Amino acid sequence: MDTRSIDRILKKYNHEQSSIIGILQDLQEKENYLPEKSLEYISERLSMPLTRIYRIATFYNAFSLKPRGKYPVNVCLGTACHVRGAAMVLERIKMHLGIEVGEITKDNVFSLETVNCLGSCALGPVVVIGNEYHGKMTSAKVSSTIDQYRKDL
Ligand code: FES
Repeated sequence: MDTRSIDRILKKYNHEQSSIIGILQDLQEKENYLPEKSLEYISERLSMPLTRIYRIATFYNAFSLKPRGKYPVNVCLGTACHVRGAAMVLERIKMHLGIEVGEITKDNVFSLETVNCLGSCALGPVVVIGNEYHGKMTSAKVSSTIDQYRKDL
């Protein structure tokens, strides 16, 4: 854990407990997730109960307590996407990245999750990479779509 960078974040927010969401956002932006040790450190420095920090961290979907890649890959397995072949798309992504759901690639670039509906059913199967939606995904398009992100590194 890099305590100096956490101290910088805390200083930016004047060590205000009321800024905890901003503090967690900055930490997540830096680490791609909220490491347990970092949350313990923040709890100590702000004299804020760790349980309260965890309550906030688990309430917002934008926060992740598990390591995530720079580009989290979310595959929708909701009904509308499922009937259009989402399971095959997921298998292809697993093969391409060499990881299972809940894992992260060795280079920390991609992690893989599934969701139940992303609210874009008409575009199914939908895959979100980072913040970008990719609709009408097919197994054939998986490699080129993912490799685009590697090029942008
Ligand atoms: S079921 Fe996939 S976006 Fe709704």
